[in-house]
Amino acid sequence: MSFSTRILCIGAGYVGGPTMAVIADRCPHVKVTVTDINAPRIAAWNSTDLPIYEPGLDEVVQRARGRNLFFTTDVAAGIREADIIFVSVNTPTKEFGQGAGRAADLQWWEKTARQILANAGRSKIVVEKSTLPVRTAAAMSRILNSNGSGMRFQVLSNPEFLAEGTAVQDLEEPDRVLIGSEETEDGLAARKQLVDIYATWVPRDRIIESNVWSAELSKLTANAFLAQRISSINAMSALCEMTEADVDEVARAIGADSRIGPKFLRSSVGFGGSCFRKDILNLCYIAESYGLTEVAAYWEAVVKMNEWQQTRFVRNMLANMFNTVAGKRIALFGFAFKADTGDTRESPADAVTRALIEEHANVVITDPKALPNARLDLQDVGQLLAFEEDPYKAAEGAHAIAIMTEWAEYRSLDFRRIYDAMEKPAFVFDGRNILNHRALFELGFNVFPIGKMALKHF
Ligand code: UDX
Repeated sequence: MSFSTRILCIGAGYVGGPTMAVIADRCPHVKVTVTDINAPRIAAWNSTDLPIYEPGLDEVVQRARGRNLFFTTDVAAGIREADIIFVSVNTPTKEFGQGAGRAADLQWWEKTARQILANAGRSKIVVEKSTLPVRTAAAMSRILNSNGSGMRFQVLSNPEFLAEGTAVQDLEEPDRVLIGSEETEDGLAARKQLVDIYATWVPRDRIIESNVWSAELSKLTANAFLAQRISSINAMSALCEMTEADVDEVARAIGADSRIGPKFLRSSVGFGGSCFRKDILNLCYIAESYGLTEVAAYWEAVVKMNEWQQTRFVRNMLANMFNTVAGKRIALFGFAFKADTGDTRESPADAVTRALIEEHANVVITDPKALPNARLDLQDVGQLLAFEEDPYKAAEGAHAIAIMTEWAEYRSLDFRRIYDAMEKPAFVFDGRNILNHRALFELGFNVFPIGKMALKHF
């Protein structure tokens, strides 16, 4: 089989894996190889039990794997063969030195750049897929091109906008694909090669071209704006609780304005996930490094509001449970940062668990998919913690239930059975506003939604 183009992706994680699978599925003429230093992860990609769960992903991988989609740990061979190299490696927040806790840790990126240089053998196109600080492409380009090898590398920025749980759909029918390049003759030619690949299945008017800096900054800006909407509606939720307004009614009313739009206005205990917090802090760091203190403070407030919403949630629990939860069993329903994923990164449930443990509550966590990650995340937390697969068992003997993740199955639980098995007075704190609050109240629960009047029997 002869292929028109050979693509390599370094990094087989949440972004690299699904993105490459969809490219391979849609472009049978392109050979796509995905590599990772993590051998068990590659083995899983080659098995029937893929390392990540995404609706539709199994089918996409099955269609393409072995045909034009390959998973391997041999990074060097992959680099040698490829015409286009996507880099989709971790960019966690830096935990040491300058910019600790805010800046992105670029050590994996730099190592990857050097590895590409050592194995390339000829000029290639390198595509940034990880979310990176603005101007990383320039640094990458310097490492790759100032070595006297005679090779020329074009570095493109092609940020990923997929959300977990809808990755395949987001990739197959993206709102837009963004491709940034240097605006030189070589840069534009490289840009065109990548545009042509996406244009195999993405309508041409959804492929946006720009310079590299715009592409890089657009990714951070998109996440900052999305998170800002959640913090904005969450700020209003606190005010709603004080004034007897209903945050869902407010969201519906403002969302009907076509300039605002209805999406991403669900008030909650807070946003989580691997991107929002990290990207905003990164944006703040960049702004500060250019002396733009006000810009940094403005965006930082989005993160602070999110933290405050979580603190406020626990404070509300305490205040309504007679100012003490010490020795009381509290069942947290959900630990994933959102429904339909086992991912727990930056989940508000983590902060809530820790705050309750600090108050000496006996916390029991249930979740249909995230218990393995929850166990890992909470390894450092002592004996006051338990894990329970069955939500009914989790609720047995509990004083309170707190909904942390909007799992659909929580809506259809038998709450009479749950109520009967709980201590009285029984409390529900609905951190996702997914339950039928009136019905719960009528069963006897004291119900505390977000941004709505509490329904209390006392
Ligand atoms: C996000 C972006 O959506 C995606 O474009 C980017 O590439 C990566 O970051 P993801 O982290 O997978 O994707 O999840 P998303 O669905 O955006 O939700 C993020 C968090 O916000 C979740 O904790 C979710 O529960 C919360 N959320 C979302 C709300 O609290 N209210 C809302 O209205 C929407």
